[in-house]
Amino acid sequence: MGLVRTIDWQDDHIVAIDQTKLPGEVVVLEIFTVEDLVDAIQRLAIRGAPALGVAGALGAAMAVVGAPRHRDRDLAALRAARPTAVNLAWGVGHVLARLPDGEEAVLAAALALLESDAARNRALGERGADWLTTRVEGPIAVQTHCNAGALACVEWGTALGVVRSLHLRNRLRHVYVDETRPLLQGARLTAWELAEMGVDHTLVVDSAGATVLARGLAQAVVVGADRITANGDVVNKIGTYPLALAAARAGVPFLVAAPESTIDPALASGAEVEIEVRDGREILGGLPDTPTLNLAFDVTPADLVTAIVTEDRLVAPAAGERPA
Ligand code: MRU
Repeated sequence: MGLVRTIDWQDDHIVAIDQTKLPGEVVVLEIFTVEDLVDAIQRLAIRGAPALGVAGALGAAMAVVGAPRHRDRDLAALRAARPTAVNLAWGVGHVLARLPDGEEAVLAAALALLESDAARNRALGERGADWLTTRVEGPIAVQTHCNAGALACVEWGTALGVVRSLHLRNRLRHVYVDETRPLLQGARLTAWELAEMGVDHTLVVDSAGATVLARGLAQAVVVGADRITANGDVVNKIGTYPLALAAARAGVPFLVAAPESTIDPALASGAEVEIEVRDGREILGGLPDTPTLNLAFDVTPADLVTAIVTEDRLVAPAAGERPA
């Protein structure tokens, strides 16, 4: 995995690992149109907040350089492909700001974002590891939810960036991986990445998450985020909030690792975030038709978030600090 980027740009198009096929097969998608990019995002072939930010940026460049006739339609479809991770619309806006300098400037901004992803993740991973090693003595066992690894970014990872840094310092004992229903990003993607990294790990069902902490098996929870609001509320994969409640009860730190682009200063609190509701068939799994509420994300209130690390800083919402 270290050598393959999750999402990249080749000549005039996007290449990306199809995350729906992992861990069984490593299939590389070649995407030439915004329409195909939106489809890949909606079916979670490309997923994870930082990867969505880069997809938004490269997709906007594609819309501007390749298909000027459909530009407005394509940009609107791209921004709206998934509503919760702020990084997607942020990536589109970030590169479109360069449009007055010409179409090539838009592409250059998108490529700069792509190239800087790994350095951002390494910086926030180091900051998270620095912080954890001051709070926990000896080798640390952590629990994580969903996939905030290289597969959710271009390279390296955010929550798994912290894990990588601990591993490289010989300060990582173990990782407990929640399977992350319904699409199993933990079981399929995180467990696969940890195996590639040579990190000891154990898979647990989501409903065992609180018990892992209650039994003292993990000394910290480390997760990524899709959006962090001005007050420090953290929106992440459904099941994160119960883990934060369990961490508070167990007295272990709840650490969020995310790039600055995940912080949305425009929204005061998590109550204002649109939470994606996905097709019920994802949770029915062949059962008879039954009404569903397939929420893809939840909101962890700021008072349960011990710390947020970004590439630039550490913020402690539970201690009253605000990211914006
Ligand atoms: O629905 P997904 O797989 O896109 O959800 C991803 C998550 O919730 C991740 O934890 C988040 O995007 C952070 S990735 C560094």
